[in-house]
Order: sequence, then C-alpha cells, then structure tokens
Amino acid sequence: MDALADVTHEAHDAGVDAPRIPRSSDRCPDGGALPYPEVPEISFETPLPDLTLPTSDGPLRLGRYYTPCAAEPRLLVVRLMAAWSGPSQHHAAHTRRLLELPEASRLDVVDVLVSAADNQPPDDRDLADWRARYDAPPTALARSDAPTWRALSIGPQHLPLLLLVDPRTMGYLKFFDAPDTHDLPYEVADALARLDRRARPTRPAPARYDDRLPLDAWEMVQAMAPLARPPADPTNAFADDPRAAALGRALFFDPRLSASGEVACARCHDPAMGLADGNARSTGVALGDRNAPSVLAASGQRWQFWDGRADSAWMQALGPFENPREMGFTRLGVAQAIAQRYATEYTAVYGALPPLEDRARFPAAGMPGQPPGRP
Ligand code: HEC
Repeated sequence: MDALADVTHEAHDAGVDAPRIPRSSDRCPDGGALPYPEVPEISFETPLPDLTLPTSDGPLRLGRYYTPCAAEPRLLVVRLMAAWSGPSQHHAAHTRRLLELPEASRLDVVDVLVSAADNQPPDDRDLADWRARYDAPPTALARSDAPTWRALSIGPQHLPLLLLVDPRTMGYLKFFDAPDTHDLPYEVADALARLDRRARPTRPAPARYDDRLPLDAWEMVQAMAPLARPPADPTNAFADDPRAAALGRALFFDPRLSASGEVACARCHDPAMGLADGNARSTGVALGDRNAPSVLAASGQRWQFWDGRADSAWMQALGPFENPREMGFTRLGVAQAIAQRYATEYTAVYGALPPLEDRARFPAAGMPGQPPGRP
C-alpha cells in the first residue's frame, strides 16, 4: 500500500506543475472573481469538476470551495467512500483524526458517498445511515454514484480515495487510496507545505503493529472481535452465570477427567488451533472416527456434532467424557473428581453436592450399561 501510495504521489507531483492546470498567480491580477476552470472530464490530470451533489441539507456545489485569489488558501480534502468498504468505514469512524490535526482550521473535509452498502447508488436514507458512522462530522457529506468517478478507477482496493485539492486551481496536490489514517498528519502537512511553498516535511517511517500490519488494518481486525454475545440459552439456567463459565473453563482444560489422565477437552479443541486440533481424525485415549470441529461460538449453534445429535451445548458436553475413544471416563468418575477438586466452585453455583463420599452408593467409576466400579 505504501509503495502504491508513493507511486501515485510521484505521478501526481509531476502532473501538478504541468501547464494544463492554470496557476493561480496567472489568474488573479486584481483579485477579481474568476470563473471556475473548465473541466472536460474527470481525470487525475484535470481539476476537480464543479459538480453539484445532493446532501441532506440540499445541493452542494463543489465550486463553493474555489478561492482562486485566496492569500492563505485552505486545503480541500475530498474523500470518495463506499458504505460496503471496510477502510471507508474506518476513515469515517476516525474523522476526528483529521479534524483535530494542528492545521485543521485550514481544512475543508468534503466526503462523497459513491456507493451504498449493497453497491447501488446511495439515496438519502443511505446517506443518513452513513452519517451515523462518524466520530465527528466532516465539513460536508454528499452523495454521488460510482460511474461519475469511474475515470479515477475507484474500486474495492481503492477506497476511500483521498483527493487533496488546491482551492486556487481546484487541481489535485495529491491523491492516494486507502491511506493509513495514521499517515494523514504527514499527508496533510505535506500538502499544506506545497500550498504555502514551504519546505516539505519528511515522511515518517510507517507505523506497524507487530512489525507487520499497518495500524489501520490492525484496528479493523480488532473491530471484528470479539464476537457478539451469543443469544441467551433458554434450556440452561446457568449459561450466563460467570461462575458456572469459570468452572466450565477449568473443566475444559483438566486432563484428569479422562481414563489416561491426559486427555482434556482442549486436547482436541485447542485454543492455539482455533479450538480444533488440526488433524483429520482426533485422537483421545484412542484414535477416533471423526474430525474435531472448532467449538468457537458453538454455544450459538442450533445443533451440535456433525450429525446434529445434540440439540444444545450442555447436552453435547455430556458425550466426550464417556466416549470410549475420546476421554474414556465415566459420569461417576467425573462427579467424584468434581467433589474432590471443584466442590467450592460447584456448590457456589449449583448448591450442595450429593453424598459422593458414600462409596457404596457412588462408586469411584460407573456409567449406564457398565457394572459399578469398572473404569
Ligand atoms: C478426542 C478428541 C476430543 C475430545 C477430548 C473432545 N472432543 Fe469435542 N469433538 C471431537 C470430535 C471428533 C467432534 C465431532 C464428533 C461428531 O460429530 O460425532 C467433537 C464435537 C464437539 C462439539 C460440537 C461442535 C459442532 O460444531 O458440532 C462440541 C461443542 C465439543 N466437541 C465440545 C467438547 C467438550 C466440551 C469436550 C470435553 C468435555 C470435548 N469436546 C472433548 C473431539 C473431541
């Protein structure tokens, strides 16, 4: 992305001084009003056309930002965005980063929504939905459609497209697509330095999270997590009790609830492996027949297991302990283990345990179909 941005900067830097963009100094002999430059078509080589775009407060003419004779020109920042574009959403949600720059009093930020979430031309309703995404409102928010801007080859990789415009000529000082919002301070300072004919600042080293991701990409990844809370489970009175969850978590990682003392649920649903095990077939106390699915968000599933033979998360969890190839344990073994090691945590949520110390009634191991006492 940086390499691409650099190329486009350079390409445009060459174009800016090309004769076809009139220089403001040629045009303001007496500071009088000058007509908007003639723009035959939208392109990176010609000035921004004097479009009239709908906003929620009526039509907006881009020509209103044209100030050919301004002594201290402002900087017009036009951002072309699409509602379906993650980076566009990110830029809208972090508009404050632009508006709180030291030079912000010299900025006009005009956002143009060119596509709705369904990739159709946006209407007023889409514009209102889009406005709700901002952390701070831009100077103006208008809508347009993607075909109007086609010559700028806007597309999935190229949004938002930022156009930094010299309001004396309406020519582009710079343009770049999907910039890292953390680079904006430099880009804005650089464009202003060019407007003022000052020495240009040096570009800072790109900021990276973990030496890899641009900070924007990292922020976008984070915004996708954590997952929404699963819906309440009407079949489980304890599902949303954090103490029950903490106990369940401890049991999930406890290998002593297996015949070999080595197989915890986490053996086959390993957090480091996306809560699966990465094998074609799982091995517990013996090699199984099936592949372990990830249990990420499993509590939100309507059915559990490949064949859907459990209809709730709690019902599913009864299976692995007594599965002869998975944990090879017995329900009495689990109950005894809980009484010995988790009695406090258990009784705090569920009340008193049965008298498990009565080994005549509750042997150390046992399950239906198995004589008492056998492992
Ligand atoms: C030996 C490996 C192994 C162990 C140990 C194990 N599982 Fe699994 N798990 C599997 C396999 C294989 C399946 C799929 C089985 C099937 O569909 O018949 C599965 C399925 C599941 C599912 C259903 C997920 C879905 O998308 O349908 C859940 C939930 C689950 N396990 C939770 C647990 C819990 C909780 C424990 C511990 C009490 C546990 N597992 C122990 C291998 C294991």
